[in-house]
Amino acid sequence: EHPGLLDRFGRVARDLRVSVTEKCSLRCTYCMPAEGLPAIPRDDLLTAPEIARLVGIAARDLGVREVRFTGGEPLMRADLAEIIGLSAAAAPGVDLSITTNGIGLDHRLPALVAAGLTRVNVSLDTVDRAHFAELTRRDRLPAVLAGIQAAHDAGLSPLKLNAVMMRQTLADAPDLLAWALEHDCRLRFIEQMPLDADRSWIRDNMVSAAELLEVLGTRFVLTEAGRDDPSAPAEEWLVDGGPATVGIIASVTRSFCAACDRTRVTAEGTVRSCLFGDDETDLRGLLRGGADDTEIARWWRGAMWNKQAGHGIDAAGFAPPVRSMGAIGG
Ligand code: GTP
Ligand code: 5AD
Ligand code: SF4
Repeated sequence: EHPGLLDRFGRVARDLRVSVTEKCSLRCTYCMPAEGLPAIPRDDLLTAPEIARLVGIAARDLGVREVRFTGGEPLMRADLAEIIGLSAAAAPGVDLSITTNGIGLDHRLPALVAAGLTRVNVSLDTVDRAHFAELTRRDRLPAVLAGIQAAHDAGLSPLKLNAVMMRQTLADAPDLLAWALEHDCRLRFIEQMPLDADRSWIRDNMVSAAELLEVLGTRFVLTEAGRDDPSAPAEEWLVDGGPATVGIIASVTRSFCAACDRTRVTAEGTVRSCLFGDDETDLRGLLRGGADDTEIARWWRGAMWNKQAGHGIDAAGFAPPVRSMGAIGG
């Protein structure tokens, strides 16, 4: 038996993403409905010690090397520093990062870094304040920029920015890239996936990587530079000859599922082998039922073995997952 998280297609998951909450301080249209997601009952949420126990099992027994806490918005958990601190103790030497919208990061960062946080990725789709307010349904751009500045000042590196490409902000893309270069951030543009709670994603209306490259090409000279590593979702492009780069995560038009190395745990403690597909395996029941690490690891391996080949967005009969991005964990 393979010791790690191997699937039927020979992929091995070494990158764990843990969603810690469904709550968020923004309402990005590609992710959440205006009213937010239905609240997860408190008792259904994994506690900080439960999350850390799973992180420990993943690192010790299952070969996981990197753990990223997501949401919703991870900063909505008041005990995020405890989650990170206990995880760092349970999994020494494992890279612990968060993907955040940046709001409140300036205040929270010192405690998070002290607890063992090594890196942050911040979602930022436009630096046009009015467009930001429209897209996220909240006028919070200044708070996000303050969070990015704080992460930069704390020396967390590389500091990555994620921008989901949307039609209403496409024209802002060159300004966003200029801002990222000026502020020493590694910007990555992401093709929108059908993970919105409103189910309004339309393939023909999605901004593709090719279209974005055309728009960026009006201001910058971009040269293809490949992926940082084979399972990295982003393809890098040198900007004006380098050394600065911009990344493109073409999840839809150039799917990277064949090299996927991810395993996910939802805020309610189920393992999800893929963003897409609705197969989930409950670990919370095992945790709370007194199962030992070996048994939990066995269920986790089983969940990953059955991982689907890919998202299948372009396949006939494709249906988006029942849960939206905010509920699965970006
Ligand atoms: P790094 O370790 O810094 O490279 O982080 P990351 O790129 O793995 O994480 P991040 O949370 O910043 O994710 C970037 C984007 O990749 C997300 O916004 C998603 O759109 C996309 N993404 C993340 N995980 C998956 C996945 O499993 N499948 C697909 N298709 N896309 C994903
Ligand atoms: N398609 C692609 N990326 C998405 N994200 C949220 N929803 C979607 C979607 N429908 C991104 C966020 C964030 C990360 C966690 O997931 O912008 O960077
Ligand atoms: Fe919140 Fe991130 Fe979803 Fe936007 S994409 S609503 S910031 S969880």
